[in-house]
Amino acid sequence: MKPLTIAIDGPVGAGKSTISDVVAQRLGILHLDTGAMYRAVGLAALNEGVDPGDEAAVCRLCREDGARVDVRYQNGKQVTLLNGKDVSDEIRTLTAGGAASAVSRYQPVRKMLVARQQAMARQQPMLLDGRDIGTVVLPDATVKIYLTASAEARALRRRNQLLEKGTDTPLETILAEVNARDYQDTHRAVDPLRQAEDAILVDSSDLSFEETVEKILSLVEEKR
Ligand code: DC
Repeated sequence: MKPLTIAIDGPVGAGKSTISDVVAQRLGILHLDTGAMYRAVGLAALNEGVDPGDEAAVCRLCREDGARVDVRYQNGKQVTLLNGKDVSDEIRTLTAGGAASAVSRYQPVRKMLVARQQAMARQQPMLLDGRDIGTVVLPDATVKIYLTASAEARALRRRNQLLEKGTDTPLETILAEVNARDYQDTHRAVDPLRQAEDAILVDSSDLSFEETVEKILSLVEEKR
């Protein structure tokens, strides 16, 4: 039998990673945050002085093995490695997020990461979160969720997240960033963000963290 697979897609700041973490933990399965892998490629470009907007240069860097992304688990928690180095914290900045959004437009980058994600999901029951999990990575996922919230709610959550990490960014800056990323993620030519036809929409604008987790767990129970 195929291992259980849960696909959670949605726009930036919908709480996908944190919600997914808790849902996976409660189900006793691993969580793969696929955005972290795109962030690692974006960071590789920044570290090498390669413009993330320069497709040829980014793809060359990947071909020449300069953006090797690996994922390990330590006590059930994802550790993202770039060229063997743990970059789990470094990839969490706005700059790395912007670079990730840029490099995620390139087909060779997506092909490399999607293959890695599919191989991992074949090995064990897993919850994957991203933009194209239900549509491209795991079209046969056991359960598909499209998790979203209003741009304002997402910007506010993002601001609080950054504040917790000691960065005070004005709300307008984050809202502009959220809108720009929504546009870029939904309008790119290759595998844009969209809700899979068979995905269940969960709008968390008016739900608390716990309510969102419970809602998703009950949808998983129904589908299993
Ligand atoms: O979820 P995140 O903010 O960490 O993702 C960073 C960027 O990576 C996001 O702008 C779009 C891209 N991404 C993607 O194209 N496909 C995925 N499965 C996950 C993320």
